[in-house]
Amino acid sequence: MASGIVTASYIIAAVLFILSLGGLSHPETARRGNAYGMSGMLIAIAATVFGSEVSNYAPLMLVMLVGGTLGVIAARRVQMTEMPELVAILHSFVGLAAVLIGYATYIDSTGHLHGAERAIHEVEIYLGILIGAVTFTGSVVAFGKLRGKIDGKPVMLPARHWLNLALLVASVWLGVEFVGSATTGWGIFLLVIMTLIAFAFGVHMVMAIGGADMPVVVSMLNSYSGWAAAATGFMLSNDLLIVTGALVGSSGAILSYIMCRAMNRHFLSVIAGGFGTSSGSGAGVAYDGEVESISADETAELLREANHVVIVPGYGMAVAQAQNTVYEITKMLREQGKEVRFAIHPVAGRMPGHMNVLLAEARVPYDIVLEMDEINEDFPTTDVVIVIGANDIVNPSAQTEPESPIAGMPVLEVWKATTAIVLKRSMASGYAGVDNPLFFRENTRMLFGDAKQSLDAVLGSLH
Ligand code: TAP
Repeated sequence: MASGIVTASYIIAAVLFILSLGGLSHPETARRGNAYGMSGMLIAIAATVFGSEVSNYAPLMLVMLVGGTLGVIAARRVQMTEMPELVAILHSFVGLAAVLIGYATYIDSTGHLHGAERAIHEVEIYLGILIGAVTFTGSVVAFGKLRGKIDGKPVMLPARHWLNLALLVASVWLGVEFVGSATTGWGIFLLVIMTLIAFAFGVHMVMAIGGADMPVVVSMLNSYSGWAAAATGFMLSNDLLIVTGALVGSSGAILSYIMCRAMNRHFLSVIAGGFGTSSGSGAGVAYDGEVESISADETAELLREANHVVIVPGYGMAVAQAQNTVYEITKMLREQGKEVRFAIHPVAGRMPGHMNVLLAEARVPYDIVLEMDEINEDFPTTDVVIVIGANDIVNPSAQTEPESPIAGMPVLEVWKATTAIVLKRSMASGYAGVDNPLFFRENTRMLFGDAKQSLDAVLGSLH
């Protein structure tokens, strides 16, 4: 394929990626956004495969077949609730690829370059491996934490910030030493030491982050994987990889910033790993007192009497796959002239937009699905709030207990409604492992059981 056609294809692919990001910013246009992204990737792969750089097709086709097949199997098998884990492990692949390409480029091409060109190339290799290695181990640890294989509680080493600073200073010093002596035995030694330091930094950074801050970490690693891809693009002199990597890197950074603001966390604190996180046990305070349970029939009765209803979906709704029953109840209540709205916390569920996707899938109209900031003030005038499998996002201790691991995190103030009905199976804590005093409030009623079964029973009673 002529280089002009490759360049034109790359530009078209880059435009499609930008349109894709635009589309993904709203549930209504998300499908279109995905279609743009897939078309862009198809064009990018075709232009690269048939471009002048590739001459040996057999190994390329083989690895594409293996990678593509694994991708299809993983995507078909993954449950909606496991998406963040899949995303984390995919980020780790990007990081590992950057490390391997860095070493391959180092072995392959450093020798024949000279002067400034060579120095720049060495910096590219160094940075590519550095960012890739941090992304790789950080994402593997994030995967382990999200899957529950690694304890979600933050691991706070003594003097951890000094340790991070020492690792950073060492990496800079090794980089300065590396540029200039890259082709010598000393150069490869420095590169290997830096890679080990970066691996250690990735592990340390994510281990220090507590359960409730994991969403920010996942989007931050998303950003890192973009910068790792951009660095790979520089190493391979591939413009599209640079542009795409920069798009992923910057959009991931913006998402991390937005999530930090939503969670009332400092961006730098999260990047530095657990900075500012309470050094308490992570278990929060245990509460005791009266818990009042309620039946499905009584819940239906309260709904029948209510005029203003707010539904707060959480991770448990995704586990129970209760969204379609939620839609049926919403439809019925709305037909009876009641106001029914949804309150979405920015980190409800296990990935950004998790609840919006489920509700959209169940055909809940977008205009009654509101963000936390849009609805939090309306709880005092709400008759009934139904909390479906949510826990951390409605935990009042975030406001009242400065030592709590979720202290300062904005939460949905459901306890201000006349009655809050919480649907869950037990008194177990949520993702952050913090007990929830909401369950003991006077105006709270617990509807115990699987959320789908409980809601089916409520729907049956409402008929
Ligand atoms: P959680 O705090 O995790 O609480 C979910 C609750 O659902 C649990 O307490 C569980 O209680 C209940 N549950 C589970 N299965 C259920 C079922 N089948 N039926 C009924 N209830 C069920 O969820 P949340 O309130 O949505 O908060 C999200 C948490 O995840 C936050 O801490 C957030 O930081 C973290 N996180 C979020 C993300 C993103 S980006 N959204 C990513 C990673 C982590 P029982 O076991 O008693 O039923």
